[in-house]
Amino acid sequence: MNRVGLNYLRLGVNVDHVATVRNARGGLHPDPVRAALVAAAAGADGITAHLREDRRHISDDDISRLMAELKIPLNLEMAATQEMLAIALRHKPHAVCLVPEKRQERTTEGGLDVAGGHNHLAPYVRQLVGAGIRVSMFIEAEARQLDASKSLGAPVVELHTGTYCESAPGPMREQQLKRLQTAAAHAAQIGLECHAGHGLGYDTVKPVAAIPNVAELNIGHFLVGEAIFTGFEDSIRRMRHLMDEARA
Ligand code: PXP
Repeated sequence: MNRVGLNYLRLGVNVDHVATVRNARGGLHPDPVRAALVAAAAGADGITAHLREDRRHISDDDISRLMAELKIPLNLEMAATQEMLAIALRHKPHAVCLVPEKRQERTTEGGLDVAGGHNHLAPYVRQLVGAGIRVSMFIEAEARQLDASKSLGAPVVELHTGTYCESAPGPMREQQLKRLQTAAAHAAQIGLECHAGHGLGYDTVKPVAAIPNVAELNIGHFLVGEAIFTGFEDSIRRMRHLMDEARA
């Protein structure tokens, strides 16, 4: 599919879990930057990496190297803390996605409460946007979270697809899909660019990719896991193909 067409859905490949495997042995292999370059060659439109407060996967050095070596945009996921803000302002990645972070969680378990955290988040969004970084808010598919993101001046939201992916196929998942569709339509109405991600795999991606107002999907864990069986390039190409089919 033509990458600049109006209907084109971007794929951001999250390389966090390449770093998870590397860190299991404390060495240099496998290298998430090498994985990012492979992903770019396989058709990724951007690379996503989450620098967590506890550095459990991506490291500060990974971010420096991604910034230096990537020819496609970097989307830095981070919590709204002073430490992360300073890092983002130093590197100035193409995009920052603000996510909630709890130390004990296995992954990002739910969206950022933008509506409830408005006063805390406002200066972060203002400084990041002021530095020319495209800011997105990782939120649950709820109108009040979309409206709060808009009122903060963030140009982008990313809808958390975790509950949709974890729901049993059938009416439960359909209900979650409807939530995502309604939220994406609301985002378009109030002038927000809409992304989506978390937990997506081959069997869950197409209905989300078919939502017309979604401009980008961010996918990591499944692609890295599947790479064990078929290789990283193959898993990315196959995901890309399913996304294109959904949009055709
Ligand atoms: N989008 C955001 C904001 C995330 O935090 C994550 C997980 O780090 C993803 C997308 C990708 O989720 P997954 O690794 O489950 O595909």
